[in-house]
Amino acid sequence: MAQWIEGTIVDNVRWSENLFSLKIDADIDTFVAGQFTSLALDINGERIARPYSYLSSPDQRPVEFYFYTATDGILSNAMLNLKPNDSIWIKQQANGFFTLDEVPDSKNLWLLGTGTGVAPFFSILNTEKSWQRFEHIVLIHAVRTTQDLLYQEIVKSLKQKYAERFRFQAVVSREHISESVYGRIPAAIESGELEKSVDLKLALDDSQIMLCGNPEMVKDTVDVLKARGFTKNRRRTPGHITVENYW
Ligand SMILES: Cc1cc2nc3c(=O)[nH]c(=O)nc-3n(C[C@H](O)[C@H](O)[C@H](O)COP(=O)(O)OP(=O)(O)OC[C@H]3O[C@@H](n4cnc5c(N)ncnc54)[C@H](O)[C@@H]3O)c2cc1C
Ligand SMILES: NC(=O)c1ccc[n+]([C@@H]2O[C@H](COP(=O)([O-])OP(=O)(O)OC[C@H]3O[C@@H](n4cnc5c(N)ncnc54)[C@H](OP(=O)(O)O)[C@@H]3O)[C@@H](O)[C@H]2O)c1
Repeated sequence: MAQWIEGTIVDNVRWSENLFSLKIDADIDTFVAGQFTSLALDINGERIARPYSYLSSPDQRPVEFYFYTATDGILSNAMLNLKPNDSIWIKQQANGFFTLDEVPDSKNLWLLGTGTGVAPFFSILNTEKSWQRFEHIVLIHAVRTTQDLLYQEIVKSLKQKYAERFRFQAVVSREHISESVYGRIPAAIESGELEKSVDLKLALDDSQIMLCGNPEMVKDTVDVLKARGFTKNRRRTPGHITVENYW
């Protein structure tokens, strides 16, 4: 059983009404990029815990998390009010199999996420080992409006560091914005617009795909990919698709 340890808030960045990030100083064990841990607060005498993906890469400290405040959400709304030097519980050991250890080798890696579901992708993208395994890495961030399109400074630094090996595309569903694909990921795959936007083909023989965030996006995208012959990765039967559902 993973142990609870006490972490200290280093920073709380409020991006918008519903989005914020916490930087936490805590003596956690080593984790693998893409994994999640649990965070908890004691609220009215009860420890309220939920899983959260690491946004920071394994060698970055303090560790960082990116949150959406769910409507009436108990823990996310309580964490929103944390201030530097406040305490938070964090599990010492990380969990989960949404890591590159579970992804077979291929030429190209596609990372498709909605909202805060990009968090594990930034951890993966900021890990040098990822770039030793794949020639191109594509990050697709699907959001409702451009104000949810955060962490663009990481996108910019990855573009500078890896040039044409890193391809980024925003998919925005409730605003028409130049440079972004309008609508949802599954429709943009079906129409070919997503591949065109990053100038790369989603091909059966050279693509691995990771999906994270909204479970409806995950389901609808898997359906579209399956129709094109892609299959889910299983330990005994490697395929192309690896998923993480946030709720
Ligand atoms: C592996 C994993 C990693 C995650 N990583 C992140 C992350 O990095 N950032 C982030 O913001 N969130 C992440 N989540 C979601 C997170 O664990 C919480 O569900 C979220 O913060 C809401 O918690 P809450 O206590 O505020 O709301 P709750 O009181 O738990 O729920 C409030 C409302 O939100 C919706 N909701 C929340 N959770 C669920 C659920 N599990 N099933 C159905 N509806 C739900 C429902 O409408 C619910 O009534 C992750 C979840 C998983 C499983
Ligand atoms: N983010 C979290 O971690 C989290 C955690 C718990 C609960 N929630 C709940 O999720 C809602 C808001 O979350 P969010 O702001 O992260 O946005 P979201 O609703 O997940 O939307 C993000 C993007 O995903 C798209 N999307 C939604 N359903 C899709 C589908 N079936 N196929 C493809 N794309 C799809 C949305 O398009 P459209 O605009 O067309 O819908 C939008 O562009 C709230 O109701 C909240 O309670 C979120």
